[in-house]
Amino acid sequence: MTEVLTIILAAGEGTRMKSGRNKVLHKLGGKPMIGHVVELAAGISDRVVCVVGHQAREVKKTASRHAELEFVHQEKQLGTGHAVQQAENYIAEHQGSVLILYGDTPLIKTSTLTGLMAGHRNSSGGMTILTAEMDDPAGYGRIIRDNSGGIKAVVEEHDADPETAAIREVNSGIYCFDSQLLLEALKQLDNDNQQGEYYLPDTMHYISKKAPLIPLKADDSREILGINDRADLAEAEGILQERIQQKHLASGVTLLDPARTYIESGVEIEQDVIIYPGSFLKGSTWIGSGTVIGPICQLDNAEIASDVRVRQGSIILQSRVDSGSTVGPYAYLRPGTEIAESCRIGNFVELKKSRVGRGSKVPHLSYVGNATIGKSCNVGAGTIFANYDGVNKYQTVLEDEVFVGSNTTLVAPVKLGRGSSTGAGSVVTKDVEENSVVLGVPARFYKKK
Ligand code: UD1
Ligand code: CA
Repeated sequence: MTEVLTIILAAGEGTRMKSGRNKVLHKLGGKPMIGHVVELAAGISDRVVCVVGHQAREVKKTASRHAELEFVHQEKQLGTGHAVQQAENYIAEHQGSVLILYGDTPLIKTSTLTGLMAGHRNSSGGMTILTAEMDDPAGYGRIIRDNSGGIKAVVEEHDADPETAAIREVNSGIYCFDSQLLLEALKQLDNDNQQGEYYLPDTMHYISKKAPLIPLKADDSREILGINDRADLAEAEGILQERIQQKHLASGVTLLDPARTYIESGVEIEQDVIIYPGSFLKGSTWIGSGTVIGPICQLDNAEIASDVRVRQGSIILQSRVDSGSTVGPYAYLRPGTEIAESCRIGNFVELKKSRVGRGSKVPHLSYVGNATIGKSCNVGAGTIFANYDGVNKYQTVLEDEVFVGSNTTLVAPVKLGRGSSTGAGSVVTKDVEENSVVLGVPARFYKKK
């Protein structure tokens, strides 16, 4: 098999995005655009080179998180052809196919790219170009075909007369080249056009004299969506969401209102999970079978076992909830929280870096921070774990079967022994022995004057 060198173009600023950040750093499905492209490239290439320029440091750092690749610098962004010229040394060293991808075209599928490369290999073409039929071709280079259906030229929007602008077949910006012909063609490029740029598609004028140009039309034009502005970004997000959701629907997940549910690509959901509208599932969140989420919940890197109920308005960040437990409405589980089986974490309860043992309840209006709560405990309404003295954070431990009366303040560090109880309103500043009761700061009684 011929070796594949992939060059990803990501040096442009993306001015149409109106952003302080390079366009390819913007996220799609929770992952930077460049991350999508780099992962795709690494999966099908022997070597990946990325052309960077605008905000090169950030782009390199982000891209490197997604795959192993090399970088070349494009000092001034003089066009897509000029960008590829910067990778000349890599092309010269390479025998085989060169695949070009754009950092702003992240929805392309692996199967389409492998099809493109196979088509290129089997055709003895000098350049295979992926095109698509668009309902609205605005912003793309238009494909000019000759009488026999072959490709003649790509005309950029800026250079197009009204007749050309009406053509609906567009250039995807994705091509497969013979390395030698690409190298030769790059040397011939000029910038004689409206934008004064070196256009990569213009390499076809030289190549066509040496070998056939092979157009390949994509089945689904949505794959080649180039993201130039925020409207494109929103459209791409919608397309990606639809793909992700179709996958979950097909594997047995109920989404009551897919259009108002947001699921990032790394989320795993088992069958018979029900997701109510407005829910936002992020990162590497995992949800076990039979669990019901929402409406309007946010789960980020959360691990939710089977048959859990996460009720309206709850947020769970980097935390774990075991099977049979209920959380919410309006609960806030901050990072490092672990809820064991059959627990009840109720409304307006906030937990942070805390473990709650099997069958325990924190049903209403509490703050639980830096705590270990044993099995079968009951933490009454309004209980506050006072874990912070303004300088340090301290631990609170509740052994099994502790009953905490409403509105207790537990001043950490403090430990409540097995089976102990506190009376309503107590302020507990010292450890409580097993099976004993502590009573709060009782109200003092005065006569009115
Ligand atoms: C380009 C194509 C157009 C095609 C469209 C598909 C050219 C001349 N035009 O237009 O035919 O229909 O993509 O989406 O190729 N880049 C650099 N250095 C540069 C210029 C651009 O690295 O000097 C990178 C950008 O960062 C971007 C990609 O190349 O990732 C495409 O550049 P962009 O300016 O968006 O090209 P389009 O105008 O969309
Ligand atoms: Ca573009």
